[in-house]
Amino acid sequence: MPKQEPRDDLYADPKRPLSSFAFDERVARVFPDMIRRSIPGYSTVIDMTAVLAGQYVQPGSHCYDLGCSLGASSAAISRGAAKTPCRIFGIDSSPAMLKRAGARLAQLKLPVPVTLICADVLETNIENASLVVLNFTLQFIQPRRRLELLVRIYNGLRPGGILVLSEKLAFTDPEAERLQIEMHHAFKRANGYNDLEISRKRSALEAVLIPESLDCHRDRLAKAGFGRSDLWFQCFNFVSLVARR
Ligand SMILES: C[S@@+](CC[C@H](N)C(=O)[O-])C[C@H]1O[C@@H](n2cnc3c(N)ncnc32)[C@H](O)[C@@H]1O
Repeated sequence: MPKQEPRDDLYADPKRPLSSFAFDERVARVFPDMIRRSIPGYSTVIDMTAVLAGQYVQPGSHCYDLGCSLGASSAAISRGAAKTPCRIFGIDSSPAMLKRAGARLAQLKLPVPVTLICADVLETNIENASLVVLNFTLQFIQPRRRLELLVRIYNGLRPGGILVLSEKLAFTDPEAERLQIEMHHAFKRANGYNDLEISRKRSALEAVLIPESLDCHRDRLAKAGFGRSDLWFQCFNFVSLVARR
């Protein structure tokens, strides 16, 4: 039987003081359960990252999983690109995440090895890339530095290479925003989180995860140089785009 992942109950205790959300050891320990129960469509995004890797990774190129956490997207790239000689880099600034990512990836016996690097994605050199993945990471970068990161990615991509950008969205129409948040919270309740946990986690994330509208993402991708960006996935207020160089 597969091993049960530790359950995320980080926000269940009302007596525990609330601090700003951080990708520390406590979060890393429960991360697989947390992300599966918090992001609608997460497993589809990961599975399709493998399909996109199979389609777009070019022989002799590099693949980057920026904000790789425990390496779920890196492993998907490895499986998808199994037949293509390439190098895969998983980058994350959280030592707690990377320590666990190393152990998890080693157990998977992947067809293409993943090189894990503890670094800020804003400082990471991106070169000779055919695939760059930002799965739910850009939302944690300060908005004023997001364009700079996308420009680095664009400049590091080969012609025909792609960026996969998955994000939580905000909506400019207040009614759409209300409806989407309501559905997201219903999704979390259906996955066993109670109202207290949902509201405490929301407060902890407030200044840390800053979602933007789809138009804002598209405009920024265009400013960074991407000729087109296509929405390939949406589930409630979570989306994924493919932008091609
Ligand atoms: C929501 S998680 C990403 C999930 C992961 N991509 C996946 O698909 O399972 C965001 C990750 O981005 C990392 N992160 C946030 N800001 C970063 C930065 N400036 N440089 C590197 N990693 C960063 C965090 O440590 C965290 O592991």
